[in-house]
Amino acid sequence: MGSYNILRLDEVDSTNLYALRNLDTLTDGQVILAEKQTHGRGRFQRGWVSHVPNNLYMSIVLKPCRELNKSTPLASLTQYMALVICDILLFYGVEAGLKWPNDVLVRGSKIAGLLGESSTVGKCLKGFVLGAGINLNMTQGEIKSIDQPAVSLNLLTGSPVNRDDFLKALLTQFFSGYGLFMETGFSLIKEKFSKRSTFLGKKITITSLNSQISGLAGGYSDDGSLLLITEEGEEKEITTGDVLYP
Ligand code: BTN
Repeated sequence: MGSYNILRLDEVDSTNLYALRNLDTLTDGQVILAEKQTHGRGRFQRGWVSHVPNNLYMSIVLKPCRELNKSTPLASLTQYMALVICDILLFYGVEAGLKWPNDVLVRGSKIAGLLGESSTVGKCLKGFVLGAGINLNMTQGEIKSIDQPAVSLNLLTGSPVNRDDFLKALLTQFFSGYGLFMETGFSLIKEKFSKRSTFLGKKITITSLNSQISGLAGGYSDDGSLLLITEEGEEKEITTGDVLYP
């Protein structure tokens, strides 16, 4: 089992940016936890609401290898983490679903988002930063200020959530399966990830920065890409994008 260390910051622009700036000195397994982020970042240059006390804003520094090869499953580490979050939410009696690539939803509303970023020089990996924002303790008003359907764990359970307890359970479970995940890759979690998926078998549209494609969500490849069956019956492997479905 890998080990971790938590660095607690009162305020930072973004825990991911802090980790990326300090990668040379931060060691494998270092967790950066912030009370508040002034520039919390989401996927596709979006923001992440990050001023709420006792919510979870954190990044994990991972240095699994020096040299990257095709089978290093960095891109699907966020998917592994999304499943771990689902498992921890179950301890709180909350059943969550996964919206590819790595959003965690409860009844269609987002409770957690993940942002993975790597720093490389040629084939050499300086480090991978796995950022997680989890809505643990928010008011209805704070939830409504988010520009997409969202929910917070305290509102689902009806009581405040102890962030340290949640974080400890999350990191313990993450690191207990991390080594095997890095050896095996997405195929290790494909079945579990598929079962928790919100839109498999449905007609979906995937948008990315300047393109859009529709089809039937068929499943996942062994590296965590989405298999889309287009209206022409062609199977396409989609590696990035936002999914829309009814
Ligand atoms: C998304 O769903 O778009 C991803 C959101 C990721 C937010 C977390 S909060 C901690 C870490 N630091 C950041 O700036 N972003 C991630």
